Amino acid sequence: MTGPVGIVGAGLMGAEIALVSALARHDVVLVDVDDAALARGLDHARAAGARMVRRGRLADEDLAAAMGRVAATTRLADLAPCALVVEAVPERMDLKREVLGRVAAVVSADALVATNTSGLSITALGAVVPPASRFVGLHFFNPPSVMRLVEVIRGEGTSADTAAAAAAFAAGLGKTPVAVRECPGFVVNRVLLRAMVAGFVATGDADPALSDAAVVAAGPSPMGPHALADLVGLDTYESIREDLARAYGDRYDDGGVGARLVAAGRLGRKSGGGFFTGPVGEVVAPPELIERVGAAYYAAARDEAERLAAEGIASRGDIDTAVRLGAGWAAGPLEG
Ligand SMILES: NC(=O)c1ccc[n+]([C@@H]2O[C@H](COP(=O)([O-])OP(=O)(O)OC[C@H]3O[C@@H](n4cnc5c(N)ncnc54)[C@H](O)[C@@H]3O)[C@@H](O)[C@H]2O)c1
Repeated sequence: MTGPVGIVGAGLMGAEIALVSALARHDVVLVDVDDAALARGLDHARAAGARMVRRGRLADEDLAAAMGRVAATTRLADLAPCALVVEAVPERMDLKREVLGRVAAVVSADALVATNTSGLSITALGAVVPPASRFVGLHFFNPPSVMRLVEVIRGEGTSADTAAAAAAFAAGLGKTPVAVRECPGFVVNRVLLRAMVAGFVATGDADPALSDAAVVAAGPSPMGPHALADLVGLDTYESIREDLARAYGDRYDDGGVGARLVAAGRLGRKSGGGFFTGPVGEVVAPPELIERVGAAYYAAARDEAERLAAEGIASRGDIDTAVRLGAGWAAGPLEG
């Protein structure tokens, strides 16, 4: 790739995508709306880099050199020389279309343009980046400095060359790209939310801590659905679940479990509590819950993974890789 990497939006995701790009020796142009947002983004990138240094994954001088490759600016016009631009502004269709339209007007006609959207339609976003053949989803996982998975999502117009170049870019950052054909939820959220919903429904009146322990005892997931929802935030879970229920119907109906917690302001760890209000001690799942909740959780994940494969959204191998790396499972839902 000749030319710098542009990142629009220096928030949680954009700042760290800038960091990992600069660590891979790309020059980076990082754009946000004002100097305060840029300063926050650079601080965030530096802090993520410092964590990598503390863990022995990075030398101090390499972090300094990488940060030196990041040019922060409030002018979208500074993206002109970029070979690839990754949009990472807030998850709103109108805002993303406006920003992407302006990006398309600034970069050269052969520059690749990507979005880090978690769930908006790649095809609808690509419509403002003519030709849509050069537009692609590059779905990094949070935090991008740690998570190895990148879903490379092809919209209707995305060319094979663009998808291949985007995957090569992700691989060059030390990430593992998986090839995904666009569908609501992509791969990881579709499988994971399906399993979580099944887990909540099967739990019923049982103790959430015991239910989580049952899921961990029954298969490859490192945590149960209640702890996971507390971690990602009940509001985030609920908004993704609603999108999936609209697209796929009842199999994403959790009987109102998530909505009730959101209505009560119990959003998870970030609000001081969700299903749990503090650390959950060691508990041993009773065999009855392992059979009921554990089995429901993994059967739902397997069923959704089979549907993804049958629909041609991703290969069986990539579905397993995506769930292993995106959700931390020790094995994929289609393995074994
Ligand atoms: N946070 C996550 O866990 C996560 C994971 C995967 C994907 N995503 C997706 O990544 C995208 C960004 O999410 P985030 O969590 O980093 O959001 P964020 O709110 O932390 O950051 C967004 C940044 O975009 C900036 N911005 C807003 N309007 C802009 C404009 N017109 N031009 C330039 N910059 C502008 C904001 O000032 C802010 O700094 C969203 O599409 C989100 O769905 C988020």
